[in-house]
Amino acid sequence: MSTLLNAFIKTIRHEADDVVSIELLPAPGMVFPAFDAGSHIDLHLPNGLVRNYSLLNSTEDAGRYVIGVLLDRASRGGSKCVHQQLRVGTTIPIAPPRNNFKLHEDAGHSVLVAGGIGITPILCMVQRLKALGRSQELLYFARSRKSAAFVDRIEALGIDVTWHFDDERGGPPDLKALLAARPAGQGTHYYACGPSVLLDAFERHCAALGYANAHIERFAALAVEPSPNAQATYTAELRKSGRTFVITPERSLLACLLEGGVDVDHSCLEGVCGTCETAIVSGVPDHRDSVLSAAEKASNKVMMVCVSGCKSERLVLDL
Ligand code: FES
Repeated sequence: MSTLLNAFIKTIRHEADDVVSIELLPAPGMVFPAFDAGSHIDLHLPNGLVRNYSLLNSTEDAGRYVIGVLLDRASRGGSKCVHQQLRVGTTIPIAPPRNNFKLHEDAGHSVLVAGGIGITPILCMVQRLKALGRSQELLYFARSRKSAAFVDRIEALGIDVTWHFDDERGGPPDLKALLAARPAGQGTHYYACGPSVLLDAFERHCAALGYANAHIERFAALAVEPSPNAQATYTAELRKSGRTFVITPERSLLACLLEGGVDVDHSCLEGVCGTCETAIVSGVPDHRDSVLSAAEKASNKVMMVCVSGCKSERLVLDL
């Protein structure tokens, strides 16, 4: 397991309706590792839940992590705990930054799309691109100006921003038209983070427009059913120890490994955080996560063992 860090809660700020930012500093004796744009950290919350949140501050900001958290009305306990139980001056365990949403810093042009609280990793990315002097534009959508976090901070960057507040425009943005009006050159990379409905539309429109360099980060897991050719029962073998496990439909591959005392990093258990990524030696996984790109899934080199299954009778993992 990766070692947890103790983080001191320096500030909690109201940023917009139902959105707070939390500034974390290393507790005495701790050092925060550097991070790159698009990274997230896991908070180990007082109620026992583990939730991941994107880092929104500048990557040049050594030794400081800042996250933004929306109070989700349908919260299963994560954001409610953050908003109601975290206090300035206390410490909280966090896992070091991980990145499933990497910024292609050498892109000729970058188009970044943020929906609501999806602005958090995007804000980190636009600051990085600005620091590098790269060509970029931001499309920021929110229900209203009051619900949009970090507007002042973005305006202060002086970058090209298209704002869309639904209540001022009488409805949601025409994402397809907005994307179609952007440069389609091979050197352009497109990024989106926000609600699933926005990300689904972004993926669909980018595919239709032939935009190959499209990247997304999901906060919520996609509901992925097992493939028709997935095995109900299969054998997982660990390359290093030679141990084998029979995986049945009742328990996930990760659950079987953990019960068997195998040390596998994990966090969300829903296929969204990337923490349980495990290398595959042989066999064909049935990918059911929301982290890997289509190309990464097709290569079958790694899998998320918390949610994914197997299409072959035997799966050999590099554990
Ligand atoms: Fe988060 Fe598996 S634990 S993707």
